[in-house]
Amino acid sequence: MRLRIAVLASSRGTNLQALIDAQEKDEIPTKIAVVISDNPKALALERAQKHQIPAITVVRQDFPTRELYEQEILDLINKYSCDLICLAGFMRILSPYFIGNSQIKIINIHPSLLPSFPGLDAQQQALDYGVKFSGCTVHFVDEGMDSGPIILQAVVPVLVDDTEETLSLRILAEEHRIYPEAIKLIAEGKVEVGARIARPPLHQ
Ligand code: GAR
Repeated sequence: MRLRIAVLASSRGTNLQALIDAQEKDEIPTKIAVVISDNPKALALERAQKHQIPAITVVRQDFPTRELYEQEILDLINKYSCDLICLAGFMRILSPYFIGNSQIKIINIHPSLLPSFPGLDAQQQALDYGVKFSGCTVHFVDEGMDSGPIILQAVVPVLVDDTEETLSLRILAEEHRIYPEAIKLIAEGKVEVGARIARPPLHQ
């Protein structure tokens, strides 16, 4: 049976595209049931439509409170009978209300080796710190900022002449590889999650 996924995305949607491509090549046993964006101009919405995936915008300003806004997203996710929520460049912090009321797990892809450089501009944070390696992380979402149990990570070198753009592109290529891989592990029931540790690790 296919795992039904809701993808939440705010902009370009290249990670969404990687999931669509992996699904269409039958590399992941999923059905992207709905794509939800907080930004009506998100390219992610067009990418979904091109593949006949329902694409819905839910704008924060249309709701008087954050709870009502988040409840609308949760209702949509229920309506499409999703089993997993995948954040793919969703640039809005989900409140404890959303996390607490979601009946299904939420995962996120972040462009750094967490717990280093959570939050915004992770690639620039890595450059500014002077680390020699960075990468990306797929993790479960909890109430903290990019702090939930880690499912997979990939490492890339930081080169002496890197700019935010060149480093971001190198990391992005790895994001597109490990996000589908992590979802495949979850779909196959291979990820067990405790309070801190999600298993299996990358190298089994
Ligand atoms: C990706 O690099 C993703 O890791 C990052 O936003 C980008 C979205 O790109 N997410 C975060 O920084 C979340 N904290 P995309 O729209 O092309 O997938």
